[in-house]
Amino acid sequence: MMVKKIQGLGLIAFVAFGLAACGGDSSADADAMAETPAAQAAVVAADAVADEMTETDAMPQELPEGVTEAMIEEGKGVYNGAGICMSCHGPTGEGIPQLGANLTDDEWLHIDGSYESIIDNIMNGVTAQESSSGVPMPAKGGTAITDDQVKAVAAYVWTLSQ
Ligand code: HEC
Repeated sequence: MMVKKIQGLGLIAFVAFGLAACGGDSSADADAMAETPAAQAAVVAADAVADEMTETDAMPQELPEGVTEAMIEEGKGVYNGAGICMSCHGPTGEGIPQLGANLTDDEWLHIDGSYESIIDNIMNGVTAQESSSGVPMPAKGGTAITDDQVKAVAAYVWTLSQ
């Protein structure tokens, strides 16, 4: 869709520019050419393409409300340290068969994948009945991490699937 639209605009710009070039004096400079209506249309069309491209391509990733880069960094430490998440979910979060689920894909077994739902999952764990492998996840991984550490590690886990 996007590509088609850009191609379409490009074609309009090309044709408009071509018309302007034919009608104009061959010694006319770019400024003079931009004064013909067709050339102006070409400039407008080209601007529209440029705007559309910067809007979609250069958009910074939006973090969930309340999450900061510092929290994500702290959460990485909790994941591999005090929270011992890596012992069941693997050091990169890709999961360990018959143990912790993959946290890097966009398939979630127990939650919807939102930041809030990740916090809930860590706070409550997963019962053996709920677990697809029959292996339970203890609340907070069975550790005594603080609520702030839970939020930080949830922020880190959230980034793994983005
Ligand atoms: C003792 C092993 C163990 C530890 C430690 C552990 N988990 Fe889990 N985790 C599991 C199991 C088992 C599941 C459920 C997997 C299944 O159903 O296949 C799970 C599920 C999850 C899910 C939900 C995944 C989904 O697809 O819905 C998240 C998120 C998660 N764990 C995060 C963490 C975090 C963060 C930590 C560290 C604070 C942690 N876990 C520590 C075993 C563990």
